[in-house]
Amino acid sequence: MSTITVRRASVKDAAAYARVMSHPEVFPQLLQVPFNDEELWKARLAESATPGKPDLHLVAELDGEVVGNGGLHPAASQLRRRHAMALGIAVAHEAQGRGVGSALMHAMCDYADNWVQVLRMELSVFTDNHRAMALYRKFGFEVEGTHRGYAMRHGQYVDVHSMARWHPAPPRVSAPG
Ligand SMILES: CC(C)(COP(=O)(O)OP(=O)(O)OC[C@H]1O[C@@H](n2cnc3c(N)ncnc32)[C@H](O)[C@@H]1OP(=O)(O)O)[C@@H](O)C(=O)NCCC(=O)NCCS
Repeated sequence: MSTITVRRASVKDAAAYARVMSHPEVFPQLLQVPFNDEELWKARLAESATPGKPDLHLVAELDGEVVGNGGLHPAASQLRRRHAMALGIAVAHEAQGRGVGSALMHAMCDYADNWVQVLRMELSVFTDNHRAMALYRKFGFEVEGTHRGYAMRHGQYVDVHSMARWHPAPPRVSAPG
C-alpha cells in the first residue's frame, strides 16, 4: 500500500512545484502564469520561509516522491479580514485519485481550525472543475457565488465559483484546569 506524507515545503521542492503545476492537464485549472519554472518557485518558497510570513506551503509525498502541494495565504491585507485565508492545491496528473488531495486538504483544514485562528477558508475554482469541487465539498466548502469571465484560460474568459468553508466548531476558551 502507498504511503502519503504531508510536510512543510522548502526551497528544495521548487523543481517539484514547477513539474506538478506545468502539466498540461493541471496548469489550466490553476491561476498560475505560463513559464512558472523552478527558479520562480525557489524565489517564492524562499520568500515565504522568511520568519513572520503568514503563508503556509505544504507538499505531499507519495512513497517518498513529491506529487502535490497546497498553500494557505492571507486572503486580504486588511486587519479586519485576518480571520480569512485563501487556499490553493495541485496534485501531479499521474498521482490524482489516490488520496493525495485529501491528505493535503486535511492538513490545511487542521492547521487553519486548530492552530492559526482562521475561521474562514476561501478559494476560487473554475466552474467546470468538478473533481476539485468534489474534493472541496468533502471538506465542508460551499459555493457562495459565481464570477463571470473571471480569468483567462486558453484564450477565453472563464467563470469561477467562489467557495468558502467556515470553521465547523469555532474555538472557545478551555475550562480552568
Ligand atoms: C483537484 C485535485 C487537487 C484533487 O486531488 P486528488 O489527489 O485527485 O484527490 P483525492 O484522490 O484525494 O480525491 C478527493 C475527492 O475528489 C473526488 N474525485 C476523485 N476523483 C474524481 C474524478 N475522477 N471525478 C470527480 N471527482 C473525483 C472524490 O470526491 C474524492 O473523494 P473520495 O475519494 O473520498 O470519493 C487534483 O485533481 C488536481 O490537482 N487537479 C488539477 C489542479 C486543480 O484542479 N487544482 C484545484 C484548482 S481550484
